[in-house]
Amino acid sequence: MEEVSLKGKHLLGLQGRSKEEIELILRVAKKMKRVILSDDKKIPYLKGKSIINLFMEPSTRTRSSFELAGKYLGADVINITPSGSSMVKGESFRDTLLTVSYMGTDAIVMRHKAEGAPLYATKAVEPIIINAGDGAHEHPTQALLDMYSILEKKPSLEGLKIVIVGDIMHSRVARSDIYGMTTMGADVHLAGPRTLVYPELEKMGVTVHHDIREAVQGADVINVLRIQLERIDEALYPTNREYARIFGINREILQLAKKDVMVLHPGPMNRGLEIAPDVAYSDESMIQEQVRNGVAIRMAVLYLTIHGGDGSELAD
Ligand code: NCD
Repeated sequence: MEEVSLKGKHLLGLQGRSKEEIELILRVAKKMKRVILSDDKKIPYLKGKSIINLFMEPSTRTRSSFELAGKYLGADVINITPSGSSMVKGESFRDTLLTVSYMGTDAIVMRHKAEGAPLYATKAVEPIIINAGDGAHEHPTQALLDMYSILEKKPSLEGLKIVIVGDIMHSRVARSDIYGMTTMGADVHLAGPRTLVYPELEKMGVTVHHDIREAVQGADVINVLRIQLERIDEALYPTNREYARIFGINREILQLAKKDVMVLHPGPMNRGLEIAPDVAYSDESMIQEQVRNGVAIRMAVLYLTIHGGDGSELAD
């Protein structure tokens, strides 16, 4: 069998990525999680490498977890945000990319409001490009950490009923989850109002529901998405109260799922809108663990793309 290697490869999305590539990242992340939980978190496989976090949209967990991930691996990591850069002086995105890549940068981790911005970057500059979210397109490391979090409790994704609820239309997380989870053999369902969840999405190999009760029936996993208020400029549902009443995930809805259902949310949450507070902090919730797993996944991605190999040199 041909060895899977991600060395020198960009990570723009999970569309078209093979099961073997995803499994490699998840396997290495498991080793990275042990490192994170240990006393000494430094494993300097990326010593002498430099990574630039270029975040053109707000972020708390994705940016800080990429930063910590790079630092735990011994790389030098720098953060650039538009308000603190020469972009406020009118420098273009292309020139900003060129400038940061001239500094001997090995990888650029990028978040941008425009779909396709990371792909554009791969054509404009040399470093490895890791997509940390581009518009409503993809957010591959989030989907990887979602799958990783599920696999901490389940032996495999094969055949699991995973329901993704909410603002699918604006969600790069949903798109990456759909690509990754269907590749791994999960039975993926989407639920939400017609204005946010189109029937055409079934072309992606998923089942679409507009009735939340029907959707969560017997679910193994419910992934609740944030209503992306910043991307919604028209009334796509009547009011927040109506949304919470019809599609909000509360205890009553959870009763319809499997007894050991897992609840995921990528964060940040609109508590009381898409998810009830008592569900967000329940035993079924994996939300805090997802944040921790985000660091492990990002360590795995940086290690595999910049350093390469299959992780066999890492301790079990
Ligand atoms: C997500 C994002 O930015 O796409 N958040 C995240 O990375 N944890 C989801 C969101 O903003 O709702």
